[in-house]
Amino acid sequence: MTQDELKRLVGQAAADYVNANVPEGTVIGVGTGSTANCFIDAIAAHKHRYRGAVSSSVATTARLAQHGIKVFDLNEIESLPVYVDGADEIDPKGAMIKGGGGALTREKIVASVSEVFVCIADASKRVPVLGGFALPVEVVPMARTAIGRRLTALGGVPVLRVTQDGAPYITDNGNEILDVKHLTIHDPRALEAEINAWPGVVTVGLFAGRGADFCLLGSEAGVETID
Ligand code: 5RP
Repeated sequence: MTQDELKRLVGQAAADYVNANVPEGTVIGVGTGSTANCFIDAIAAHKHRYRGAVSSSVATTARLAQHGIKVFDLNEIESLPVYVDGADEIDPKGAMIKGGGGALTREKIVASVSEVFVCIADASKRVPVLGGFALPVEVVPMARTAIGRRLTALGGVPVLRVTQDGAPYITDNGNEILDVKHLTIHDPRALEAEINAWPGVVTVGLFAGRGADFCLLGSEAGVETID
């Protein structure tokens, strides 16, 4: 199977889980990225079961809207029974690096208020130790250099994310992203807490304090559930 086929497989598995476990008439949380898009496409066939969705990015909002799924502002919603999203890396304890698609801040907000966080990914995202994928850190632009120095002091190599034409990549929240290479993250919870505490950091793309409740991982063998 190709990676795209594996993504479709876990997107469908997540839609099956949500359809079976989430009450009708509720609002669901939806992540960002190519795997989350597969979930959106799969859940669209059952959209009438749901009031709508809370989205984690402008791109996801557009895809939900294309399918005719109503998008709610998180401020309008009292509770979210489930949040489904992809990941860039997942360690054996379920801690994740996210933010390759630049949506880490809204993803973390929506994940933080959801009752159940379902991570969906192809099995290549599973790693023994986080850090092979550059760690995204969303920063307020005026703090970029100061935060870059602190990330370098930790042993990382921060690189400003840019668009194809070389301009700084700007998040949905108007900030920039430093992608930090060459970190070997043995204690993701501690590193998440440390980087989040620096003035000017909006969000670090470590999802360890509030990781997924379970992951649906797709491989040639099918979909494996990892708690
Ligand atoms: C976006 C994310 C994505 O979930 C992550 O980058 C995985 O993306 P994909 O499913 O396209 O591999 O965190 O900010």
